[in-house]
Amino acid sequence: MSETLPIPTVHTVADLRAIVSGWKSDGKTVGFVPTMGALHAGHISLIDIAKSRADKTVASVFVNPKQFAPGEDFGAYPRTLPDDAARLAAAGCDLLYAPNGPEMYPDGFATSVHVGGPSQELETRFRPHFFDGVATVVTKLFTQVRPDCAVFGEKDYQQLLVITRLAADLDLDVDIIPGPVVREADGLALSSRNVYLSPENRVRAVRLNALLFSCAEALEKGEPISGTLNTARMIAESAFDLVDYIEVRCAETLSALPGPVLDRPARILAAIRLGDTRLIDNVAAHPA
Ligand code: PAF
Repeated sequence: MSETLPIPTVHTVADLRAIVSGWKSDGKTVGFVPTMGALHAGHISLIDIAKSRADKTVASVFVNPKQFAPGEDFGAYPRTLPDDAARLAAAGCDLLYAPNGPEMYPDGFATSVHVGGPSQELETRFRPHFFDGVATVVTKLFTQVRPDCAVFGEKDYQQLLVITRLAADLDLDVDIIPGPVVREADGLALSSRNVYLSPENRVRAVRLNALLFSCAEALEKGEPISGTLNTARMIAESAFDLVDYIEVRCAETLSALPGPVLDRPARILAAIRLGDTRLIDNVAAHPA
């Protein structure tokens, strides 16, 4: 246990298990919110959901090296544990689990978890290592925390579907609960990476959500998927420094829609770059 942080904090699997086992033997249910820290209001909304669904809430903070490729921002990723602990305490979270690298990946660690299905395409085309890293650490976190439910933000929509698939396929016995995207007043989706944006790029970033919402509106009016996407891609090419993708996919499976118009609940997903910062966002679109 850490005495310097304003919330009960454990750094080892053994200490974590001792506390969670105590709760379980008292008949308490456990909700879990895994994070990489640099917490913002979006994360706190996930804590609120976990608290509404379980008797006790655990949050983890671990910047997972396995989901960053060489050259990505692992070293620069914001690490703000004292602030994170203060936010979690204020939100009424019961326990912070903050393992270090060797606790999570001891010498000789040699296992990787691969999920197929919803992990294909989209993020994987640009970050091929990403979902294996996420699935590996989340599998470990689930077996360490043993939660009854775990909350994942819809901001990382593909990740949410990958984890849902993982939990079902491996019978992990944890309910995966989605948390809605939380946005700034101007619509920018909250992200720990928004701190990287220069003031000028912060202004430009707002165009991402505006574009996705206008796509959703067009599709919901029955406009053709291919024309809507072509227009959106053209606008995005001129608004941002690079467009990794803008796609419309089935909201349940992330498979491509048969078209030509929206015929099922869909998700419009995008990843773009502004300077060195990569932003992802997505919005829902429902057929009339
Ligand atoms: O979404 C995140 O912050 C991370 O991908 C997660 C789920 C905590 C795994 O490291």
